[in-house]
Amino acid sequence: MVQLKDKTFEVLLPHLEIGRRVRALAEQINQDYQEKCPLFVAVLNGSFMFAADLLKNIDIPCEITFVKLTSYEGTQRSNTLTQLVGLREGIAGRHVIIIEDIVDSGITIEQVLADVKQKNPQSVRVATLLLKPEALEKPVAPEYVGFEIANKFVVGYGLDYDGLGRNLPDIYALKAD
Ligand code: IMP
Ligand code: MG
Repeated sequence: MVQLKDKTFEVLLPHLEIGRRVRALAEQINQDYQEKCPLFVAVLNGSFMFAADLLKNIDIPCEITFVKLTSYEGTQRSNTLTQLVGLREGIAGRHVIIIEDIVDSGITIEQVLADVKQKNPQSVRVATLLLKPEALEKPVAPEYVGFEIANKFVVGYGLDYDGLGRNLPDIYALKAD
């Protein structure tokens, strides 16, 4: 168990299991993208560990770049708009694979997808380490999913609680009290 500020978390996915699954996803991508020289677009901060481990197992020619999301808050929280920043590589005509840590409601990935599609890539797919099917509110269906998990708050392996926990090699879920 780990304690981060006021919350206690227990192991959900040990790093050995994560490693096995990430290698399997990479193997699938190696097969699907031979001759396509995909451009991976990793969404920071949460995806940094997943992106690094995934890419170490990609053995076809490829490129990777990193983007961040900035939020512009409207007058109401529901009006918050996010925008991709840092995408300098030309993506027109490229085969793009977006790398995310987690798809929860799907709102973030839907906006990222819209942003990327506007730039006319030849194809776009999403690789997410985690998916919470019960939390999904948007019609998004990531092509590469590491693990489907229950609708619990998780930390570790890049994911944070209030900035903490990104360094943990395992993934932890919030402990019910
Ligand atoms: P969505 O827009 O609701 O799909 O949320 C996506 C973003 O929220 C992710 O990229 C994470 O940064 C964050 N997030 C969602 N669920 C969790 C969680 O369980 N732990 C940590 N961050 C989360
Ligand atoms: Mg994120």
